[in-house]
Amino acid sequence: MNQAPRERWTGRTGFVLAAIGSAVGLGNMWRFSYLTAEYGGAAFVVLYVAFTVLIGIPVLLAELAMGRGANSSPISALGHFGGNAWKPGGALFVASGFLILAYYSVIAGWTLRYALVALFGGFDPDAKQYFIEISQGRGAVIGHVVFMAGTTLIVARGIRAGIERTSLILMPVLFMLICGLAVYGYTLEGAGAGYRFYLETDFSKILDAEVFSTAAGQAFFSLSLGMGAMMTYASYLSPEQHLPNESLVIGGADFVVAFVAGLVVFPLIFALGLSADVGESTLGALFITLPKAFSQMGIAGQVVGFLFFAALAVGALTSAISLLEVVTASAMDTLGWPRTRSALVFGVLITLLGIPPALKINILDWMDKLAGQLFLVTGGLLLSIFVGWVMKDPFSEVRRGAEHWPWFPVWRFLLRVPIPLALLIVLYSFVQKMFCE
Ligand code: PFF
Repeated sequence: MNQAPRERWTGRTGFVLAAIGSAVGLGNMWRFSYLTAEYGGAAFVVLYVAFTVLIGIPVLLAELAMGRGANSSPISALGHFGGNAWKPGGALFVASGFLILAYYSVIAGWTLRYALVALFGGFDPDAKQYFIEISQGRGAVIGHVVFMAGTTLIVARGIRAGIERTSLILMPVLFMLICGLAVYGYTLEGAGAGYRFYLETDFSKILDAEVFSTAAGQAFFSLSLGMGAMMTYASYLSPEQHLPNESLVIGGADFVVAFVAGLVVFPLIFALGLSADVGESTLGALFITLPKAFSQMGIAGQVVGFLFFAALAVGALTSAISLLEVVTASAMDTLGWPRTRSALVFGVLITLLGIPPALKINILDWMDKLAGQLFLVTGGLLLSIFVGWVMKDPFSEVRRGAEHWPWFPVWRFLLRVPIPLALLIVLYSFVQKMFCE
């Protein structure tokens, strides 16, 4: 067995930045914008906020409490609090990490490529054709392999020297980039129309079951919930931390970045009259519309385009390391492997699993629906039931470091009844959409 003592974060900042790094990623800057465009603007944003507050943050707190309490990654944590019968649930988490990282890294590879293209020559005006060419096939495989290599090396270096150090350096850079780009977006002529599209609320849309379930799924994806990423990060925490506060900070920061990213994306698109292209939004829309916009902006487009895609790549990297950390820590905790071996073996396996989605975008889309939506929500359902009903005394885990937190009963009630019910409805709608349409 692995006898090395468990690593710890250096302190609060390291943990919080790493957790925000996990949450903030392609989900905020790419998925959130294209879903908002597809589902009618601000109505989607309002629902998304509601789900983040009522479902996301309570489940996040549940994950943090379990991870810190058990001092281990998901499979062992479920076993620790629920007995061996619950361990297969943890295996679902690890499978989600595997699948999500395999296609996530392909998209991250596209962002690397776009950043380089911006730097060394500028964007092709025929952005759609260009995207079709680079998003599938050999180029996509290369981008994916390069990105996975970087991710694997960081995770192999460990919690402090790898994950924490990367987050400490990259997260402030990411915040500055996104804010700078939002200020630039404000100076553009079409900014008003972009903001209007983004922020005008049509509440009739909220009543749609599809918008409802997509917003809930996005809240899970964006907060990295339902697959034990936050649980694993919390397992390296010291006992005196105030977990409810950390959940609020992480959830708040994640929303702010997603929201500000919308303030970057929509003015750019509307400034150049490309809004029609967003209307028919698909997975690739942002990788087509934005480069098209950048290609019409001359040298400014090159600079802004580089900064935008570099920000995406940075966000993707800090999220990808948390995905690989779940799988790596699980191998360390359950098989007793040393970190380097775990990270390398699973880094290579996930790289191989990413080849099919790198070759065919339909596979990528399908994997996103299966793992990025269905598995995460299933994981969230399992967690809320587990902490709500099975775990003996979840309060005692949260109370360490937060003795006077007054919301325990509300938190437990949410986990027991409303959250599982809402997630069951969401799951039903996903399954129906995936298999019956
Ligand atoms: N939260 C990340 C994003 O928004 O891009 C994606 C993600 C990372 C999902 C880690 C799940 C996870 F465990």
